[in-house]
Amino acid sequence: MKTLTVELGERSYPIHVGQGLLRRPELIRPHIKGRQVMIVSNETVAPLYMESVRTALQGLHCAETLLPDGERYKNLETLNLIYDQLLGENFDRSCTLIALGGGVVGDMAGFAAATYQRGVDFIQIPTTLLAQVDSSVGGKTGVNHPLGKNMIGAFHQPRCVIADTDTLNTLDDRELSAGLAEVIKYGLLGDAEFCDWLEENMQALLDREPDKLAYAIERSCRNKAAIVAADEREAGQRALLNLGHTFGHAIETGMGYGQWLHGEAVATGMIIAAEMSKRLGWIGDDELHRIENLIGKAGLPTRAPASLSTERFIELMARDKKNQGGKIRLVLLKRIGEAVVTSDYRPQDLRAALDAHHAITERSLAF
Ligand code: NAD
Ligand code: GLY
Repeated sequence: MKTLTVELGERSYPIHVGQGLLRRPELIRPHIKGRQVMIVSNETVAPLYMESVRTALQGLHCAETLLPDGERYKNLETLNLIYDQLLGENFDRSCTLIALGGGVVGDMAGFAAATYQRGVDFIQIPTTLLAQVDSSVGGKTGVNHPLGKNMIGAFHQPRCVIADTDTLNTLDDRELSAGLAEVIKYGLLGDAEFCDWLEENMQALLDREPDKLAYAIERSCRNKAAIVAADEREAGQRALLNLGHTFGHAIETGMGYGQWLHGEAVATGMIIAAEMSKRLGWIGDDELHRIENLIGKAGLPTRAPASLSTERFIELMARDKKNQGGKIRLVLLKRIGEAVVTSDYRPQDLRAALDAHHAITERSLAF
């Protein structure tokens, strides 16, 4: 097992990465201060892993909320299921919520913990690659609104993150690839050496070689933990973690939540960001092709959906949380391994980049 720390003063917390961690109660129990625990999971993950977590919590008053599975349920209505049960079972302010699942469960359980009785403790047990490398770390929680992705939310840090890599054995290939999009993101935005490593080891990751997966998770978390420690509330450099997301969120909202997986939308978004970076003269054709190849090799789509017009794309991107003064701010690449946030570009370049990266038809997606 490897343990990293997100350094946030008295709110610092460990991220444990390794095999067999769900069977180690000593990793969870020190972070539970009261006797009431609510495990939030969903109907897919609970049959696989709930029993192990329950066993680790023996002796505590332990309840479960099972949410319907899917991004389309990441909304205020579903969130109410958690509040209903917490109130119905008289959970008080000393309770702890445990998120057992992917990023959807993690974001919702985290937001419930941020808001229930003005804030209670929570623990992340991420079970997708995407959640292990990204969403469980850093304290962003929230739900979607029909008009925009993750538009209702709060910052609320977990007490600890337990990433048991054994849980990835039951993940399907499409979800594994979606997680690899966020892994690639860390290389592109700030760790060129990791990008080289990913180019060499992508097939091993797709083959789920445990050592390689554990290394990729740990290195991704290390990158994210450093950025979160430096800029917890996204006053500056944390925005770089949104590489590909301004475009990706537009795809997710525009196509209907759940049609494109978050990681798939981010992957295509990173390619459009790279195309914009090329148009600004920051990267060349070689680097653009390197990025496209790496993303394609990870089994991810390299073209935006044909049915989302450039006009609609821009309309959706205009609602991004990073925007200021009516200008769409983009995370772009100075080079592979260095990202910047900018709104200093010509609108016609944005249109051209979007036009250049549309699929001819929906069927030409990579998956
Ligand atoms: P997800 O939570 O929908 O999980 C993907 C699918 O895999 C679901 O059907 C889930 O039930 C299933 N699943 C989960 N674990 C499994 C396992 N071990 N075996 C088999 N099936 C399993 O999707 P995700 O990709 O984990 O997360 C995406 C969400 O995370 C998006 O809503 C995105 O906005 C959010 N996100 C948040 C942050 C953040 O900082 N808070 C960062 C990145 C992404
Ligand atoms: N996933 C972006 C962030 O955590 O800031």
